[in-house]
Amino acid sequence: MIPSEEINLIRNNANIVDIVSSYINLEPKGKNFFGICPFHDDHNPSMSVSPEKQIYTCFVCGATGNVFSFVQDYENVSFPEAVSIVASKIGYNLQYKAKINKPNKDLYEITDIACKYFINNLNSSLGKNAKKYLKDRELSADIIKDFNIGIATSNNLAKLLLEKGFTEKQIISAGIANMGDNLYDIFQNRITFPINNERGEVAGFSARVYNGEQENKYINSRENLIFKKGNILFNYDKAKSEVNKTKSIIIVEGQFDAIRIYSLGIKNVVATMGTAFTKEHVSLLKKLNAKIILMMDNDEAGEKTTISSGEALVNSGLNVEVIRLSGEKDPDDYIIKNGEEKFKNLLKNPTSFFEFKLNYLKSNKDLNKSKDLASYINSVIDELNKSNDEILRSVTINKLAKDYDLDKEILTKKLIVKTKANEFKPLVKKKTRLTKNQKLCETVIYIMMKDIKYIKKYDRDLGYMPNKDYYQIANDILAFYKLNNGFNIADFISYEVKSPYYETIIRIINDYETLEPCYDEFDDYLSLIKKWIKEEQINKLKIEIDNETDINKRLELNDLLIKLKKESE
Ligand code: GTP
Ligand code: MN
Repeated sequence: MIPSEEINLIRNNANIVDIVSSYINLEPKGKNFFGICPFHDDHNPSMSVSPEKQIYTCFVCGATGNVFSFVQDYENVSFPEAVSIVASKIGYNLQYKAKINKPNKDLYEITDIACKYFINNLNSSLGKNAKKYLKDRELSADIIKDFNIGIATSNNLAKLLLEKGFTEKQIISAGIANMGDNLYDIFQNRITFPINNERGEVAGFSARVYNGEQENKYINSRENLIFKKGNILFNYDKAKSEVNKTKSIIIVEGQFDAIRIYSLGIKNVVATMGTAFTKEHVSLLKKLNAKIILMMDNDEAGEKTTISSGEALVNSGLNVEVIRLSGEKDPDDYIIKNGEEKFKNLLKNPTSFFEFKLNYLKSNKDLNKSKDLASYINSVIDELNKSNDEILRSVTINKLAKDYDLDKEILTKKLIVKTKANEFKPLVKKKTRLTKNQKLCETVIYIMMKDIKYIKKYDRDLGYMPNKDYYQIANDILAFYKLNNGFNIADFISYEVKSPYYETIIRIINDYETLEPCYDEFDDYLSLIKKWIKEEQINKLKIEIDNETDINKRLELNDLLIKLKKESE
């Protein structure tokens, strides 16, 4: 168990905005920050993070909580694990070590050992030729280090892992060795690029030949439980924190291209590693809440990939732009040939995906031929029908009519009229209607959480609520205040994570924040509750009197009733 003082200390030193920003991109808006909610299929920034209250709330799916619950849900870990993750993010040395039951821990241990082993090889005398190759390709020592580049030499990694006590099965499962007559390394005589998952752990490797040409220029780890090319984008782990600043992410095909662009200080870049764009890639990119810049290779395949990946990204609601390289095959070649400045200028002039698509539709068509022109116009209309952007529709129709001397009316008629139904509607959680008295209790609870002055007042003047749940919450607030000799909403939420009232407390904090109850009337609220308590007592007493058969006792109770009624007037 982590002592609660330590939990509070960590919570107090971790700013929820910083911690959440390390997972998703947040933008300031008024008092709060907003981002794409990672807990549902969000298209607009629906999650607000409050630096003041140190909590987050998604107004669409209702996800809510403090810094620990965010990490817990995002990383899918237990509460103590979330506390240790937050602790390490803020550089706090937590004595307690959460027993992390990480799935596939052994596989990550193997890839980690392999990575260190390859780096070591590169720095040994065996790495001489590889170092020369990397130098010839203009990679600096710093970049080699940043990307943990290494080399696989001869067939000795699997052997080493066996000596370290891993089983053949584990080594094969980690995707770095195969079984022939004996266990043998997949990577031999190649430069190795570790491929990290989004948390920065080594999931696998991509390895390039460097001693002359070979049939397979690159080979990758065999797909396994922790390495699936379709789930991973090269450099995503480093790029994601950069995206908070740049608000954009560049997508290239090859890891060498990503490394080259990164080495210019442009770190918001990821590579698909020559694989088809998957919906997992789209999800990873969506989480960044940033503009996408597609910069695929300068060949027909690259053009096709731009179309297919661009389409998937646009369909998921992302803003996509395209940069095509002219002259050179890929961004790496372009930069080596034309230099940093020219590349940076290129970056300043992207085309929208829509514009790129229209140009693409024109290619291989002779627009002087009416058949080709008709087919082109129809495909543009199809594209427009996919879009909800009224202005884009109107501008494009005008341009088509003008460029090809066509009747605007006819073109417009072919557009499908979009209804408002396509628009985004937040599915605000159905609220249960509260009675006047319930609202009264909640207001008191909310005000208590805002200032200890009111906790003291409650303790002194009331100390009870005629509703079991609210009584318990108020009691918890009081107990927490007495225990800590102070009160802080976020700490209190941590303290209540496991309580059955957790959701109610979060809801009260959120609901009453916008209602802004009147603090000056706190005393009146307490009096109203007192009156309510009396009324309840009176009602109970009345029932008791009705059920009482002993005449003397009945008279006694009647006296009590008269007394109570007088008091409550
Ligand atoms: P360099 O020649 O080192 O500059 O690589 P590149 O990025 O220019 O390579 P290319 O454009 O040919 O391929 C793009 C990406 O596809 C590479 O970064 C690799 O991830 C992957 N790739 C390339 N060749 C192979 C191959 O032979 N096998 C596999 N599995 N992947 C490859
Ligand atoms: Mn290249």
